[in-house]
Amino acid sequence: MNWDDATAETPERLVGSAADREDQAVDAALRPKDLTEFVGQERVRQQLGLVLQAARKRGGTADHVLLSGAPGLGKTTLSMIIAAEMGVPIRITSGPAIQHAGDLAAILSSLQEGEVLFLDEIHRMSRPAEEMLYMAMEDFRVDVIVGKGPGATAIPLELPAFTLVGATTRAGLLPPPLRDRFGFTGHMEFYAPAELGRVIHRSAALLDVEVTAEGASEIAGRSRGTPRIANRLLRRVRDYAQVEADGRVTREVAARALEVYEVDERGLDRLDLAVLRALLTLFGGGPVGLSTLAVAVGEERETVEEVAEPFLVREGLLARTPRGRIATPAAWSHLGLVAPQGAPLAAGGSGTDHPGTGQDGLFGP
Ligand SMILES: Nc1ncnc2c1ncn2[C@@H]1O[C@H](COP(=O)(O)OP(=O)(O)OP(=O)(O)O)[C@@H](O)[C@H]1O
Ligand SMILES: [Mg+2]
Repeated sequence: MNWDDATAETPERLVGSAADREDQAVDAALRPKDLTEFVGQERVRQQLGLVLQAARKRGGTADHVLLSGAPGLGKTTLSMIIAAEMGVPIRITSGPAIQHAGDLAAILSSLQEGEVLFLDEIHRMSRPAEEMLYMAMEDFRVDVIVGKGPGATAIPLELPAFTLVGATTRAGLLPPPLRDRFGFTGHMEFYAPAELGRVIHRSAALLDVEVTAEGASEIAGRSRGTPRIANRLLRRVRDYAQVEADGRVTREVAARALEVYEVDERGLDRLDLAVLRALLTLFGGGPVGLSTLAVAVGEERETVEEVAEPFLVREGLLARTPRGRIATPAAWSHLGLVAPQGAPLAAGGSGTDHPGTGQDGLFGP
């Protein structure tokens, strides 16, 4: 199995940040359509607003834009907003879909003047395609190689001006020559609970669900700083409210619903809690090796490492050290336990697990 990217999350996981099928189905209805509807990300929004406004004023195409950030924070949404704000069509493709340079040449040469080309997971593009992209971004031109071996010739092909919007969950994996060709890079941060509350109110209105302010904040607090998760939890809470209550989402209804779905006040699900509980109760808070911890919870190493741990680290509940996994004081208090004398407490709260990706700067609680 490929644990290399966001698809590593098991799709049925309610707090998984990758899009599942139902998310995709409602995406069209819930996505904000312009910058003013887009909640939060104030800095990116303001900077991007300037880039687009200036381009419109000049009557030209906007500079190429790179959007980086964890899954579900709004990269695809923003790319569509860019096209809408510029009043141009958008073509959507992704790095893994472009296997050969020829695939990219075909897409580029069929773009309309000014069109937005959205390249999702741009860090997963093949090398030859990447090199073709450098030239296309800079000069709106590509060389198409015809023939093989010594007889091969490069035929230059003029392209219409376009705006490339690249999205990546791993900005650190982009080769510098590619990164440098973007005129603007927006780093998406995790959302503050109040911002997620606004996302929830907005979605609830679109889904025709009545939500109180406390109901929204109850869901927001469990959404891991991620709008996609907030929208998904809202839909599950709505189901519960319609079946078990009068359809209104109050704090109490939201809390009861999310208890049923096993998402705790901090957004931890059953797997996260199992890992944490094993670390605390079986191994006294650690340090314990990843393999041992995985066996203890009956999961694959990779599942513990890639699915459960990143959020636990981000929340400052668990630390990865060279000696093994260690619980922080926050982990003990979150599970309502008292650390035994001499438990090796890791200093919690830094959460910097992926140096260089810039994805861990969070507003988190
Ligand atoms: N700022 C926002 N305001 C309101 N809703 C948002 C915002 N950002 C994201 N959403 C909602 O969250 C959902 C997921 O966003 P989106 O698909 O743009 O994420 P993404 O960053 O492209 O994720 P991935 O990395 O998995 O492709 C969207 O359906 C949208 O409704
Ligand atoms: Mg996306």
